[in-house]
Amino acid sequence: MNHVVSTQLPAGFDRFTILQLSDLHVDMSPLAMQSVIDLVKDLNFDLCVITGDYRAQTFGAIRPCLAGMAQIIACVREVLEETLYGVLGNHDSIRMVPDLERMGAAMLLNEHVVLKRGGDAIYIAGIDDAHFYRVDNIEKAAEGIPEDAFSILLSHTPEIFQQAAHAGFDVLLGGHTHGGQICLPGGIPITLDSDLPRAFGSGAWKYHNMAGYTSVGAGSCIVPVRFNCPPEITLHQLRRSEATTSTG
Ligand SMILES: [Fe+2]
Repeated sequence: MNHVVSTQLPAGFDRFTILQLSDLHVDMSPLAMQSVIDLVKDLNFDLCVITGDYRAQTFGAIRPCLAGMAQIIACVREVLEETLYGVLGNHDSIRMVPDLERMGAAMLLNEHVVLKRGGDAIYIAGIDDAHFYRVDNIEKAAEGIPEDAFSILLSHTPEIFQQAAHAGFDVLLGGHTHGGQICLPGGIPITLDSDLPRAFGSGAWKYHNMAGYTSVGAGSCIVPVRFNCPPEITLHQLRRSEATTSTG
């Protein structure tokens, strides 16, 4: 469990828990997806977000991927019958969006939603892929979010961390790197396929006042293997602090 502690978080969202699924590449490894389903069934969370790369390849058929996503989303919604929020990754096609939304996962394409609890609100924004397609627009996604509001940005790649912090986001949740996927002993990645400080390549990190988290993902791409880099699904618990902002 990753804890995100913030003075900006309204009291109504203290201990709000977010399940993050990333880099599923569902049609690459059915066994890994069954593991995801088995794990999700036993979790408690208040919101599920998916941070891109649903398809195995960066091109080709979308039907096998969508069939797998239907199973994953149905499983999540059996636990929590709420809308999921997601973004597209560099392996995904805009043609997937209508089906994903019919399944119950709203895709945030440079836009945001507001979640309310009693009189409190937090904002969840999402940008389109910033790694390969370069169709991200953080300013548009953030437009209308009040300056003092608690806001989370979903981005497939964390490479836009500077722009996200500049736009005033409190949290950035991303994936893309796979933590290297094939690593040297000790989890040292050979490549992260990203223009990113190494410390931001996996897990929790911090940039100025923004808490970041890079999921190493639940699936794999190119080859269906991971060395010294186990897959993950991630729970983030938001905690309200009266004093300082930190993550850990
Ligand atoms: Fe990926």
